[in-house]
Amino acid sequence: MTHGAFETTHAAARDRYDRMAYRRAGRSGLDLPALSLGLWQKFGTDYAYETQREIILHAFDLGITHFDNADRYGPPHRAAQQVFGRVLARDLAPYRDELVLSTKAGNPIGPSPYLRGGSRKSLLNSLDHSLRDLGTDYVDVFYHHRADPSTPLEETASALADAVRQGKALYAGVSNYTPEQAHAIAELLRVQRVPLLVHQPRYSVFDRTPELSGLLDTAAADGFGLVVYSPLAQGLLTDKYLQGIPAGARAENSAFLSPDAIDAVYRERAAALNALAQGRGQSLAQLALQWVLRRPEVTSALIGASSTWQLDHNVKALDFPPLTDDELKLIDEHGVHGTGLNR
Ligand SMILES: NC(=O)c1ccc[n+]([C@@H]2O[C@H](COP(=O)([O-])OP(=O)(O)OC[C@H]3O[C@@H](n4cnc5c(N)ncnc54)[C@H](OP(=O)(O)O)[C@@H]3O)[C@@H](O)[C@H]2O)c1
Repeated sequence: MTHGAFETTHAAARDRYDRMAYRRAGRSGLDLPALSLGLWQKFGTDYAYETQREIILHAFDLGITHFDNADRYGPPHRAAQQVFGRVLARDLAPYRDELVLSTKAGNPIGPSPYLRGGSRKSLLNSLDHSLRDLGTDYVDVFYHHRADPSTPLEETASALADAVRQGKALYAGVSNYTPEQAHAIAELLRVQRVPLLVHQPRYSVFDRTPELSGLLDTAAADGFGLVVYSPLAQGLLTDKYLQGIPAGARAENSAFLSPDAIDAVYRERAAALNALAQGRGQSLAQLALQWVLRRPEVTSALIGASSTWQLDHNVKALDFPPLTDDELKLIDEHGVHGTGLNR
């Protein structure tokens, strides 16, 4: 079929904006979907392209306009964004204006000193490469992936600001920064008139670090949004591991989620949270997503998915009534910080 000047094999769902909620990123003008899709795991050359394509297109049909990538994602590195680039060229090109594409640089992707860190050289080289992978002239958000204390923060900030000035990114972000580091780079970027749009930390019922460290407060004060990753603790906050490790699950096949995380203590806590969710007529995954989104500092919950079923199921989290104070207390009791975390 044709859509404007483009040939495409995909016609996006006409009702794609009806069910999704959109939330403002900090004090910017940009809205992000309450749920965003990341391509960290199960995207790349190890998995069937058609399945990955189907998941990306289904997400867009559900109103998930924001897709998160990084130069590292694969395997091998860069493969996830090359997959996204293929889907963009074949199916989503007519919809580029409706997409918020993010990429990141700075986590090591090779032995060269220019394939890591926060230097101008590393960041801008990586961004150029990512634009080629994705087949797009610009990304919407360019993140520094991880703070690099060996590089002056001024250099990192000016590289992010220049990426925006050069039109290669519309907004700047950081990830895995402490509140102090985030505040410092927000100040530097403010001076450069390229405000920090978003910060990407890990946050879930089992990882309360953004609350404990004060990052939520810093985000509110400095006016950046939080795009929180692993809100399902990589699947631990779903019912999938209550009876063991199912075939094909991440705890079976990923270096990032050890089967050792699925121990008796974890199972007891997850079972109690699951019972609480069932009492609300929802699943543990849906409760866990609602829990991170209860905070106004959180712009979007950044999920992964290995099937379209998971996407459909997780988007339904947005349909349930808010968690009550009593339910939040029970979640605090059973959702103990640190459960199942390996770092
Ligand atoms: N900035 C950073 O340093 C950083 C670090 C990590 C992640 N991220 C970003 O955050 C994104 C999401 O991270 P994540 O994948 O760890 O998030 P997550 O949402 O906590 O975990 C997603 C995984 O949980 C399982 N799952 C999802 N929905 C399910 C359901 N309803 N029932 C049962 N299982 C379900 C799937 O794993 P199975 O394979 O087991 O089906 C899925 O891949 C990444 O793709 C990446 O974009 C960023």
